[in-house]
Amino acid sequence: MSVVVHSVASCVSGERITNDDLATKLDTTDEWIQSHTGILSRHIAPDGAQTSDIAAEAAKKALAKANVRPEDLDFIAVATATPDYFGFPSTACILQDKIGANGCAAFDVTAGCTGFIYALDIASSMLETHHGRHALIVGAETLSRLIDWQDRSTAVLFGDAAGAAVLSRIEEPGRGCLSTILGADGSGAKDLYMVQTPRTSAYSRDEPVTPHISMNGRSVYEFAVKAMTNLIERMLHETVYRLEDFAWIVPHQANARIVQAAGKRFGIPEDKFYMNIAEYANTSSASIPVALAEMEEKGLLVKNDLIMLLGFGSGLTFGSAVIRW
Ligand code: ACO
Repeated sequence: MSVVVHSVASCVSGERITNDDLATKLDTTDEWIQSHTGILSRHIAPDGAQTSDIAAEAAKKALAKANVRPEDLDFIAVATATPDYFGFPSTACILQDKIGANGCAAFDVTAGCTGFIYALDIASSMLETHHGRHALIVGAETLSRLIDWQDRSTAVLFGDAAGAAVLSRIEEPGRGCLSTILGADGSGAKDLYMVQTPRTSAYSRDEPVTPHISMNGRSVYEFAVKAMTNLIERMLHETVYRLEDFAWIVPHQANARIVQAAGKRFGIPEDKFYMNIAEYANTSSASIPVALAEMEEKGLLVKNDLIMLLGFGSGLTFGSAVIRW
């Protein structure tokens, strides 16, 4: 018996904003953003679209690809740092209604940019222990609603997107999520946190700019490099897998320099990491499933290939997963 990633799909809709577009409104340059982060552009969800809307787009595509009906889902887990409502109800419940999966369990996972890996681990375990058949896990963010567009130190970093995966329990052994490491260091909570409630649109500048991301960029950078290297080290120590066994490493896309620094420590060639930060910027919990969806579309995910997911984010949280595709 295995719990496999049956399908993945993404939703990246709305306006594409280049670094040069931002430089017309902010004291920044394309050169600074590219050289410090590897980002060239980001996508902003259409006005009025909430996190659950882009999550629903990605979810419907993933369900169709897997040939799984919404009513066949045992539960839905949504990883998000930008829920439709703060506190309650969960975005997963709203998504459940939007895709017509009424009745199944639905809950959100709050683990910052590591949320998708947390959701993957929880969902795989739940399908096993509850003998379920199918689960939907989604990473979805509308960070554009919470960015202070006047703050160049954070405004250039983030984008909106959703990625969804259908997990299914199958009889074939030895596939799916084989090993995970999850962790957190709450002492760094104030290095990256969210203030207040979202605006209704990315550019409604006449609304008060109460919400914003507060980030100690340098501390988060150092934490991220350390988290990535520790995760790789622990994975090599605690499992039988060697680096050369992996077809791909799919890291959270926060900053290309973070990935390069971690890769250098182990002599991992850069092309072993799947990167798409240049196009989408940091989409938080959506970045890993969006990358997986893109890889699947390009035919890069081959059955039985070994894939490593690596994540870190606000909390501060970190996590990795080894998947036999
Ligand atoms: N354009 C031009 N200049 C800028 C910009 C900008 N957009 N932003 C900052 N600067 C300036 C600063 O004001 C500073 O100027 P000064 O030297 O005159 O004071 C200079 O650039 C250097 O600033 P630093 O903050 O030291 O730049 P650094 O090299 O550390 O890069 C960055 C900043 C890119 C934010 C980096 O620290 C980083 O990537 N940190 C991790 C961020 C991250 O990963 N966040 C999310 C992780 S979790 C999640 O995904 C939710």
